[in-house]
Amino acid sequence: MKLGILASGSGSNLQALIDAAGRGDLGPGRIAIVGVNVAGCGAQSRAEAAGIPTFVLPHKEFPSREAFDAALAAKLNTADVELVVLAGFMRVLTPGFLDAFPRRVINIHPALLPSFPGIHAQTQALDYGVKVAGCTVHFVDAGTDTGPIIAQAAVPVQDGDTAASLQERILAEEHRLYPAVVRALAEGRVTIDGRHVRVRSA
Ligand code: GRF
Repeated sequence: MKLGILASGSGSNLQALIDAAGRGDLGPGRIAIVGVNVAGCGAQSRAEAAGIPTFVLPHKEFPSREAFDAALAAKLNTADVELVVLAGFMRVLTPGFLDAFPRRVINIHPALLPSFPGIHAQTQALDYGVKVAGCTVHFVDAGTDTGPIIAQAAVPVQDGDTAASLQERILAEEHRLYPAVVRALAEGRVTIDGRHVRVRSA
């Protein structure tokens, strides 16, 4: 299964996927292409260092979200991408893009959805006073972090946690969870019925 990974930031989840691919831990999943919308971001450097074809598509150069998303879909299609993996990609995708990859776009979010969608999820969780935080991998729909949930991992909040310390422990779980979910999708072990997603064990 050809993967297209989209990112905007440091790219630690991208790195976890690159490392998993190197170990054979994505099963039949192959990273075909990486796209970033922020030139010079860490994700771009990591992809280039791994020798993966990479493109930069700055969203600010497009007159509308629709125009940006059409160019993005075209780039992914040139690499025959079958699964779009958002790894810290800070753009909301339009219905036009999602229609081009039906139930073929996934995202990872640093909270136990449906709690704390959107940005600064770890700060939202700490401010609320939750005792258990975590991360969620979900299919992407037209909302913000609202699509059907594929998998979640819990991370206990510790006394004295800051947004940074909690983020670090959540990221460690993200780096384990995301490759496992990508592998399950690549191996055809994921079925979806409305909002209900089932992941069969390997
Ligand atoms: C992660 O916390 C992910 O859950 C969120 O954006 C962050 C990306 O981090 N969607 P990185 O660029 O993979 O290090």
